[in-house]
Amino acid sequence: MLVNMVEILKEANKNNKAVPGFNVFGYEDAKAVIEAAEELEAPVILMSNKDAVEYMDVKCYSALFGAMAKEAKVPVCVHLDHAKDIELIKRAIEAGYTSVMYDGSKYDFETNVKNTKEAVDLAKPKGVSVEAEIGSVAYTSSGPDVESIYTDPMEAKLFAEKTGIDAMAVSIGTVHRMEVQGAKIQYDRLKEIEKITDVPLVLHGSSGVVDEDLYKLATEHNLAKVNIGTALRMVFGNILREEVNNKPEEFDRLKFFVRPTEEVKKVALNKFKLLGW
Ligand code: G3H
Ligand code: ZN
Repeated sequence: MLVNMVEILKEANKNNKAVPGFNVFGYEDAKAVIEAAEELEAPVILMSNKDAVEYMDVKCYSALFGAMAKEAKVPVCVHLDHAKDIELIKRAIEAGYTSVMYDGSKYDFETNVKNTKEAVDLAKPKGVSVEAEIGSVAYTSSGPDVESIYTDPMEAKLFAEKTGIDAMAVSIGTVHRMEVQGAKIQYDRLKEIEKITDVPLVLHGSSGVVDEDLYKLATEHNLAKVNIGTALRMVFGNILREEVNNKPEEFDRLKFFVRPTEEVKKVALNKFKLLGW
């Protein structure tokens, strides 16, 4: 069933679990993560990132993922990830996304609040949930000058109160697009944030988090949504390359997609388990 993320995040927090937000790019990886969710009777969030919506319009993604979500035996949320532009948020809501993230992390506090509020005012009347980021989670490709800005707990509290968001992304040591696990999680900062805020928290860049930390963060902390992209992209791409190399006579791409889809499902199942499912 197609849902927004409000209830699934609340439920997950109550039960000491976290819901994975997987970056998916097409039918195959979306199918793999939904099948993993169904096997474990867990909810799942299908996320479209910037690269995805530049490749294929939000209308097409919403039609595809929305149809898959409606058919699924578990709650599935269709979420726009890291939107930096209110116009894109508007189009995603019109297209049928049930959840959006406004990413104003590059702005000063007041501008981030103002723009996030605008996204909330657009989304809430339509029953669409909103995530926003306070502090900033860097990208491995950002270069040495663009480092994470760690979330200030007091700012996080004010940000949640002033914007009315449903989920808050925090910067506590993760970095986007790490191909090897090894992020240094700042548990003290996280505990400070948790002490003074109630809003479900979101961890970005979670491909780089070691398994032990992922389990701890999901089951012992207020982290309700854990975003995973690179780990799935790597397995899909690497297995696809193997398939193409191993089958030089084959030209039917549907045949090439079978194993990558199966392997993505295995990685997704493992991540679900680490998140408490
Ligand atoms: O918003 C998406 C995520 O933060 C994914 O990060 O690709 O490092 O797992 P990742
Ligand atoms: Zn992210």
